[in-house]
Amino acid sequence: MARPGPRGGQPIPPRQRPRLLLRCIVFSILSIIILVGLALLIAWLAVRPQRLVYTVEEGKVHGFDLQNNHLNASFDFVFESYNPNRKVSLYYDSIAVLVTYHDQTIAFDSIEPFYQRRYNVTKFGVKPMARSVPLSGKVSKDLKHEQSYGEMDLEVQLKARIRFKIGIWKSSRSTLTNFCNPVKVHLDSSKAFKRTYCGTHS
Ligand SMILES: *[C@@H]1O[C@H](CO)[C@@H](O)[C@H](O)[C@H]1NC(C)=O
Ligand SMILES: *[C@@H]1O[C@H](CO)[C@@H](O)[C@H](O)[C@H]1NC(C)=O
Repeated sequence: MARPGPRGGQPIPPRQRPRLLLRCIVFSILSIIILVGLALLIAWLAVRPQRLVYTVEEGKVHGFDLQNNHLNASFDFVFESYNPNRKVSLYYDSIAVLVTYHDQTIAFDSIEPFYQRRYNVTKFGVKPMARSVPLSGKVSKDLKHEQSYGEMDLEVQLKARIRFKIGIWKSSRSTLTNFCNPVKVHLDSSKAFKRTYCGTHS
């Protein structure tokens, strides 16, 4: 566009200045994006966040009584929580444990807050209880069916409120939900429980 005008001698007034400015701005923005990206990459490489590992180590039920679509049962679970990170430690501000069957919550318990260091393995036990929990007809029927086989496939959810600590920096609180599925509990307590891994997807 900045060519000489059609009549020879008179060039069109230069319009380079705004373009140069625009180029400068675009270049600056790109540089900032690249620098921030590099900083994030370096931080990520330094910290190398690893996924937290949860397993159900023990699962028992006693006092199982299902009558008129109402359930009584006492569960007993032992979980293991492993923090494989070499730089990240964790504050568990709360952990709620929900026992569900066919998407219906049948029992609930929670544990005390705790702090977990790097590479640490912490075991914790919970005892969710179902006291006269009303069940839908279908849930009741299916659960009775499982009872007749002497074992139940439950889903256990761990809902944790956590904060991360890296060096002296602490993150804000976030919620982490892990699903342990299927957790096979036997009515006959002499039968061995099989360890179940939990994941962030149901
Ligand atoms: C469950 O336990 C309560 C008392 O804690 C009792 O009143 C109720 O009848 C029991 N229900 C069943 C289905 O056993
Ligand atoms: C993990 O941390 C808890 C609490 O600080 C401690 O009691 C336990 O011994 C630690 N476990 C391992 C394997 O380091």
